[in-house]
Amino acid sequence: PSDYYTELYRSQFHFTPEEKWMNDPNGLVYSNGKYHLFYQYYPDSTVWGPMHWGHAISEDLVKWEHKPIALFPDKHGLIFSGSAVIDKENTSGFGTIEKPAMVAIFTYHDMEGEQSGKKDFQTQGIAYSLDEGDSWTKYEGNPVIGNDGIKDFRDPKVFWNDIEKNWTMLLVAGDHLQIWNSPNLKEWKKVSEFGKDKGAHGGVWECPDLFPLKIEGTDEEKWVLLISINPGAPNGGSGTQYFIGDFDGATFTTDQTESRWIDLGRDNYAGVTYNNTPNNERIFIGWMSNWDYARDTPTEKWRSAMTVPRKLTLREIEDEVFLMNYPLDNMKGVEDEVNSVTQFQLMDNQKKVIPLKYDNQSEIRFTVKNPQMKMYFSNEVGDSLEIGIDRKNKMVIFKRDKSGKTDFSEKFAGGIQNMDMSNLPESAVEVRIFLDHSSIELFINGGQYVMTNQIFPNEFYTALTLENNSIGELKINDFSERRMQRIWD
Ligand code: FRU
Repeated sequence: PSDYYTELYRSQFHFTPEEKWMNDPNGLVYSNGKYHLFYQYYPDSTVWGPMHWGHAISEDLVKWEHKPIALFPDKHGLIFSGSAVIDKENTSGFGTIEKPAMVAIFTYHDMEGEQSGKKDFQTQGIAYSLDEGDSWTKYEGNPVIGNDGIKDFRDPKVFWNDIEKNWTMLLVAGDHLQIWNSPNLKEWKKVSEFGKDKGAHGGVWECPDLFPLKIEGTDEEKWVLLISINPGAPNGGSGTQYFIGDFDGATFTTDQTESRWIDLGRDNYAGVTYNNTPNNERIFIGWMSNWDYARDTPTEKWRSAMTVPRKLTLREIEDEVFLMNYPLDNMKGVEDEVNSVTQFQLMDNQKKVIPLKYDNQSEIRFTVKNPQMKMYFSNEVGDSLEIGIDRKNKMVIFKRDKSGKTDFSEKFAGGIQNMDMSNLPESAVEVRIFLDHSSIELFINGGQYVMTNQIFPNEFYTALTLENNSIGELKINDFSERRMQRIWD
């Protein structure tokens, strides 16, 4: 219905829960034509509380259907983040070969244990569903992995390991990753550890993921490890780092020395990828928020949204291999609803104001060579969001302090976000922006450099100003604004 999802700041093309609090995506798995999205959910409030798994399904990752809550807390604790697999060989015995079980693997968080000062309050549990995620049975042998005194021990990501022909679980343990193997999802054995001396350590490690990808145009396969960390992200609070390395079936190794980040905006956290996708595509969804202010954002009925689903690939650019993240092909503006300015030149320090047509429900795209420029999104009530692409200093800056409502949290507006773009090629690059009612996602050069941010404008932006910040000509090609489809009918 058209009066559905019309609340102030309600995302039009990003997944949101109908109401109440949501955080991390969980149990991303594809099964029988449907993509499942489970998520950290608290049905009684718009702030974080005793965690459940909410549930939604989609055929194309564009339109979504809400389903009833999948997992509820029980005597072992609350249901924290985790993953889901389809047990095709029936290794667990929960289903049959003809009718395989969907198995969820999650962290139990024992709140009383935590409050009493114990360290072993997080353990790992499993549950299964024989009806495509509609109803769930917890395994009577839970927890399947206990805890011998590790304070932050959580977020199991399980996948079928083709090298060892068993199940592999990634688990974070405070400041490092642990890798466990199992023949049947019930009995687990730790096989290796990674990371005490690698990557960023400004906060606790959370929500791991590990998967192989071929470097585009070659036969070389690398393994990519995702680790979310909170706090300690370069622009403050929560962020997701990645490592490119090798996995021999038991141990992950890398010679990467610097920290690398999947997204340099402030609002892409706890993102993980789908198991079992049809063409073996690596599809990523992140939680579009930051623990610095997640509880304070100015929405009333629900809180927070997911990023658009993104395809992850490895590409070598200017002698370095990048983990690219870019919207799925079917996530795009409607063809015939387009406000197109095609191409124009800006001379020395010149500006051009382009009226925006689609009420913060749009995809904006253009290509540009050697960008030395600023973009301002503005409206009649004085809000202005600034993005600067500074080719000379190899930097993108993002400023949302005047973008709309910011006074709900000091940490939200504060400071200028920076993104290093040392490896941007000299050739023309694409700048693509997804603008929704309470978020903006920026993809430079096909997902090489990405910034995702929440924004809460007082009114829709009605103009985009492009400004040449150099002496000399700036050529903008193929400029368009397209309306995005709503993801609910
Ligand atoms: C990440 C996280 C996870 C945890 C969950 C609890 O945002 O802190 O580590 O499982 O949220 O809701």
